[in-house]
Amino acid sequence: MRLLVTGGAGFIGKNFIRLVHELRPAWRVTNLDALTYAASLCGLPDDSERYRFVRGDIRDPKAAAWAMEEQSAVVHFAAESHVDRSILSSGEFVSTNVLGTQVLLDTARRLGVPTFIQVSTDEVYGSLGVADPPFREDTPLAPRSPYAATKAAADLLVRSYHETHDMDVRITRCSNNYGPYQFPEKLLPLSIVNALHGRRIPIYGDGRQRRDWIHVKDHCRAILTVLENGQPGEVYNIGAEQETENLAAVRAVLRETGASEDLIRFVSDRPGHDRRYAMDASKIRKELDWEPRYRFDEGLAQTVAWYQANESWWRPLLGEDYQAYYQTQYGAR
Ligand code: NAD
Ligand code: DAU
Repeated sequence: MRLLVTGGAGFIGKNFIRLVHELRPAWRVTNLDALTYAASLCGLPDDSERYRFVRGDIRDPKAAAWAMEEQSAVVHFAAESHVDRSILSSGEFVSTNVLGTQVLLDTARRLGVPTFIQVSTDEVYGSLGVADPPFREDTPLAPRSPYAATKAAADLLVRSYHETHDMDVRITRCSNNYGPYQFPEKLLPLSIVNALHGRRIPIYGDGRQRRDWIHVKDHCRAILTVLENGQPGEVYNIGAEQETENLAAVRAVLRETGASEDLIRFVSDRPGHDRRYAMDASKIRKELDWEPRYRFDEGLAQTVAWYQANESWWRPLLGEDYQAYYQTQYGAR
């Protein structure tokens, strides 16, 4: 197997490359990544027979073709991924998430790459009420943030290449990930890092929003399963079916770090804030025999311990650009 991973210097892509290295030592992996603010090469292997890093933008057809030459599959993670940033400004989201996906699809088609995996999200389905059943693969798409809208647009493009060009594409849609190497802008790593250096933890609105947290390694094993055993044109929902309210998740972080609950600060809500996500993952469980291995409390404790032991990874990320973003995002709330 010769695999092109896009966005492999980000949180999930990096965990996926590490998993492939561990479980499929004969595979060769190319990582195409533009190295945006969210990326870091730390934690990735050195270049070798088994792994090569290509710095390049998925929107650049030449870079895409260079990286995709003679690959057997593409696993497409590269994206602008943070909802709050898409609310501040959505241009890069449309450009990378939609146009970038189109460039990759066209390149894969032209070069005859056999399989294309689109790594997508539960956010394309919109928001659930408290009593609604979880999202299924046939739930209509109803994205509510600019980020989610660009992921839904990309999913539809991917689907169209299957219908129109008979390409073997597969779409995975996963719930909220947590684990090692997550940039400290998302709720859990932000809470961990803030708790570790005594900074306030901002909770949007009443903190009663619900997310189905899944450990990144469980997500990556699911993607590997879809790559090896999934069917062309299919969508697979991935989730741990462990819904937790934001406030409860942050309290768990505070317990694990030994920090005080006084750090919690309720701030004004995210515009258009999705109240609840929940995934029905029965299709991938039944058809592909995948199931999550991490319970949220165990996975979170391990993740907190990882951040405690790896300050040398996250501390350098909190530089000027990060502080400027933090000020814009939280200063006036
Ligand atoms: P991330 O923001 O941590 O990493 C994104 C990576 O993509 C970075 O390394 C960045 O440099 C790269 N990138 C961005 N724009 C690029 C471009 N134009 N060209 C090349 N590389 C570019 O994101 P993540 O949390 O690892 O998410 C990865 C994928 O998984 C995304 O597609 C996201 O929508 C999806 N997803 C994320 C979650 C989650 O909870 N984080 C859940 C479900 C699905
Ligand atoms: O559901 C999958 C999605 O999960 C992925 O597609 C996205 O890439 C990923 O960013 C994530 O989106 P969310 O918006 O759910 O994640 P985030 O960590 O930003 O927020 C989680 C919840 O916590 C959400 O209800 C908003 C809330 N929140 C977030 C931040 C950053 C706060 O209350 N305070 C905060 O400071």
